[in-house]
Amino acid sequence: MMSRNAPLDAHYSVEQAQRSLRERFKNADIPTYELDARILTGFVLGLDEVGLITQATRRVTEQENKILEKTCLARLEGKPVSRILGLKEFYSLPFQISPATLDPRPDSECLVESAIIIAEKLAKLERQPLQVLDLGTGSGCLLVAFVHACRQRGIQIKGLGVDISKTALRQARINAAINGLENSVNFRQSDWFENVSGKFDIIISNPPYIASREIEDLTPEVRLHDPPAALDGGSDGLDAYKHIISAMTAFIKPGGSVLFEIGSNQAALVTDIVRQSISTHQQVTISYVSDLAGLDRVVQLGFDGNN
Ligand SMILES: C[S@@+](CC[C@H](N)C(=O)[O-])C[C@H]1O[C@@H](n2cnc3c(N)ncnc32)[C@H](O)[C@@H]1O
Repeated sequence: MMSRNAPLDAHYSVEQAQRSLRERFKNADIPTYELDARILTGFVLGLDEVGLITQATRRVTEQENKILEKTCLARLEGKPVSRILGLKEFYSLPFQISPATLDPRPDSECLVESAIIIAEKLAKLERQPLQVLDLGTGSGCLLVAFVHACRQRGIQIKGLGVDISKTALRQARINAAINGLENSVNFRQSDWFENVSGKFDIIISNPPYIASREIEDLTPEVRLHDPPAALDGGSDGLDAYKHIISAMTAFIKPGGSVLFEIGSNQAALVTDIVRQSISTHQQVTISYVSDLAGLDRVVQLGFDGNN
């Protein structure tokens, strides 16, 4: 059995290099050892899945070997594959990620799906171009994926993404450009609504929602690699929701919707915050969307036409 620290021998073939990574990841109990070995070998050697097969017997150079070893150790030390690549696929689109941005999560795709359904309904009501606001945009994944999907459906839409982090916003702008949306979305530094004006048809947000004391219990992959500002939701994890919900009605158009991603046990808590904040003359429907694991992941607020 190969030891966790056994380096790759020089002059390995592509196939042997991939197998060596696979064994070392498997011995380190990395559940996705097979996939990780394939992705990282291909990444370092510049080979796609077909190349890994057709060039299986090619010798790995000394230089490639050194980079493979460094990459392998980074993964063994708990760095997520997406952080090593600096890239994550979200809603089938490529997103660059950096230490300033959350690693986009597949569970967040259900928020995009729900927003698309709402956009389709609003578009039929002749409200185009739709105005959408993303609070805490990070890598821009939610906003870019949503606007991209709307445009594919022929829906005219303009997006604004805000974040407290200037560095995250730089990444979001790059991601908008990578996905051909530099003219459809803008980004601005703002503490939630502070630098936002105007009203929006749809507001989306995946704010930080982990209670501060629970952060130390997160897996090292999250705790050590996602930025604290993207995780820490204050003492009860609900600070951002309280702030956003108390201010949101001034920024939503009549008939508009607000969609929040929430932690798996926060549906009732966020619903309470909404009920306490909404004045009695406002009509708001509250619904929930489940994620891939069947847990409530999105709270969806629908405002009536007269708010
Ligand atoms: C959970 S991450 C979500 C990032 C991205 N929307 C996603 O779904 O992957 C929360 C984001 O909120 C941002 N944030 C934290 N506090 C903020 C504040 N006061 N105002 C604006 N953005 C804030 C963080 O910088 C981070 O990018």
